[in-house]
Amino acid sequence: MAEVVLTSVRKSYGHIVAVKDISLEIKDREFVVLVGPSGCGKSTTLRMIAGLEEISSGTIAIGGRVVNHLQPKDRDIAMVFQNYALYQHMSVHDNLAFGLRNRHVPEAEIAAAVNRAARILSIEPLLDRRPRQLSGGQQQRVALGRCIVRNPKVFLFDEPLSNLDAQLRAQMRLELKELRLRVPTTSIFVTHDQVEAMTLGDRIVVMKDGIVQQVGTPLELYRRPANRFVASFIGSPSMNFINVNVTAHGGTFILAAQDVHLELPAARFANLGPCAGQSICLGMRPQSIRLGAPTNNDVGFNGTVLVSEQLGDEQILAIRIGPNEIRIAGIDPDLALSVGSQIEAAVGMDHLHFFANSE
Ligand SMILES: Nc1ncnc2c1ncn2[C@@H]1O[C@H](COP(=O)(O)OP(=O)(O)OP(=O)(O)O)[C@@H](O)[C@H]1O
Ligand SMILES: [Mg+2]
Repeated sequence: MAEVVLTSVRKSYGHIVAVKDISLEIKDREFVVLVGPSGCGKSTTLRMIAGLEEISSGTIAIGGRVVNHLQPKDRDIAMVFQNYALYQHMSVHDNLAFGLRNRHVPEAEIAAAVNRAARILSIEPLLDRRPRQLSGGQQQRVALGRCIVRNPKVFLFDEPLSNLDAQLRAQMRLELKELRLRVPTTSIFVTHDQVEAMTLGDRIVVMKDGIVQQVGTPLELYRRPANRFVASFIGSPSMNFINVNVTAHGGTFILAAQDVHLELPAARFANLGPCAGQSICLGMRPQSIRLGAPTNNDVGFNGTVLVSEQLGDEQILAIRIGPNEIRIAGIDPDLALSVGSQIEAAVGMDHLHFFANSE
């Protein structure tokens, strides 16, 4: 069993606190993605788990054993970096064998481990080449192979796909998913790319300023973001936000802003009760909004077309409502809408999100 448990883990560099008391339980064989903007503490967290960075306080346990004071080599982990870190003067075969040779593993065992990894990653024909004779994707596969041969308890990945072009990145994402089926190992994967996080993670940890914002499955984060930061980070195009004033009128809550007037049944939106008389932030995903008049269970609003982005299978429309600009996705690509024209749009009440205005 190789669960990874972080308890109140903190990292300070002098006055800078890079990671603020993170607690996290990663289950055996689970694939967890740490995601967040640049500087939020993802790499620092991963490096503390790897033992490449000392922790300032808290505990880290791998497979039930506290590893705080263990050297990286004694933690039974394998790490893949963004820059592959392959030995340029060695063949692919020797790159794969290097770690095992260092540990004086018998040659027959090394050969078996290298062949197994090469087979899993389909790099058998490349074993005699040098890294510079490989494409970026092939080099990344060799870097993965180096981890597989060691058969570690935990894989740690720090942005391993970010050096690849978009097409190759998508392919390597699929390969990583397939790899998981063949070699199920507890994995922690760092990225700032929300698509990578959504597609790879069993669970996702969203971080900001060294603090965990939310932990959940991709769908939980998409459907029930805990705060405005998570809501804007997960999903593309990003969620739309409009600040509205909430007032109670009998059985109805009215959410109002310039050119916005939404009426919601109070019984169904009881959670808005404490917000009456206050300003809150209303969130709507671009995919939840459609053009046309509201029907039952919808609310509607009017806007002015600002610009359209043609993607071939859909258009993404930017419209202005009062001082706000919002996006609507999934518009028929053949629909011609001229800039400045007035449109009516609707969104299902179940697809409204509410956040505190201060977030
Ligand atoms: N050796 C160091 N000394 C001082 N501050 C550091 C050091 N290493 C990292 N930091 C700071 O700690 C914070 C977290 O850094 P970290 O590298 O973990 O971010 P990250 O989430 O991996 O970002 P990126 O997406 O850019 O890789 C940043 O504010 C960074 O400037
Ligand atoms: Mg980083």
